[in-house]
Amino acid sequence: MSSPLFDQKELADKLINEHKLSLREYAFLIENRTQESSETLREAAVKVRRQIYGDEVYLRGLIEISSYCKNDCLYCGIRKSNRAAERYRLSEEEILSCCREGYALGYRTFVLQGGEDLWFTDERLIPLIEEIKKEFPDCAVTLSLGERSKASYEALFSAGADRYLLRHETADKAHYERLHPSSMSFENRMRCLEELKEIGYQVGCGFMVGSPYQTTETLAEDLKFVETFKPDMCGIGPFVPHRNTPFKDFPQGTAELCCFLLSVLRLISPSLLLPSTTALGTIDPNGREKGILAGANVVMPNLSPTEVRKKYELYDNKICTGEESAQCRDCLERRIRSIGYRVVTSRGDVKK
Ligand code: SAM
Ligand code: FES
Repeated sequence: MSSPLFDQKELADKLINEHKLSLREYAFLIENRTQESSETLREAAVKVRRQIYGDEVYLRGLIEISSYCKNDCLYCGIRKSNRAAERYRLSEEEILSCCREGYALGYRTFVLQGGEDLWFTDERLIPLIEEIKKEFPDCAVTLSLGERSKASYEALFSAGADRYLLRHETADKAHYERLHPSSMSFENRMRCLEELKEIGYQVGCGFMVGSPYQTTETLAEDLKFVETFKPDMCGIGPFVPHRNTPFKDFPQGTAELCCFLLSVLRLISPSLLLPSTTALGTIDPNGREKGILAGANVVMPNLSPTEVRKKYELYDNKICTGEESAQCRDCLERRIRSIGYRVVTSRGDVKK
């Protein structure tokens, strides 16, 4: 029998102390994880998370502003080729009314997320962002509206947007090309992330866990990317198939691997803003609690009007589509409290 390449315990110690590993070491850490090594990393992740963020969990109010999308990502339920998808777009007044409701519920960050909808030009987004910042000067505005030009990112930043979430989806170009049509490019995705950072946004990247054709090696590249790009946020959640997409027959990701990677990400970047995602709560009824217990420190309850929630269906069986915003807020607060943490009313900026 050949002797193992690395020792799990030594790798865990190295990650805990140096916050980085080589690609081969990341791959080995993932491939050969055991219950014991996962637990070691989880405990270390929780310890550093507590040193920096204490028992605080940051809240973001997620407003899903449009289900129109010009893109055709093979995994996504609102891809343009899904003729069965119901399309909607919120008006400026509807978005502002979600913010008002959110503010009263204690949210101090609003995340405007949507498909790449050409209707949302800079001319429409700028006054909207300015209005939100005027009415709620103590709140952060996060955008998650996909790939745009540098000039557009600059204009939206000047209008007052504070943060931008754009998952890189995978740091492996060949893998990226298997998840997206040829009209989309890995280089453009990476260009956008670099430019967002240059402009001064707090930037979030991220990837799905268990996406089709993902391997231990592509995951190692994702970790290396986070280690070197140094984002402020990183959103990871399991891939969940959607019945009307080319990936409908692929298996969903697991909560176990997702939580393992949350711990590893916390150790790579101790101050990272790491959400425990709705997708994780979808595949496991206690997924969001498990994510926090693995080192995540952010939750993003849904603030979209209840009538449109089912239409923003990125994957099958998405949770929280029937609830009112206040119900989601209270539900999450209860869940977080039950595991010994507490949600806080603050902008929840990254601690540098
Ligand atoms: N259009 C923007 C963009 O591309 O960044 C934001 C919206 S997009 C729907 C938000 C994220 O949803 C994507 O970055 C992707 O990782 C995730 N997503 C899409 N389909 C998914 C699926 N089937 N399972 C899990 N996550 C999915
Ligand atoms: Fe929406 Fe629990 S978070 S109902």
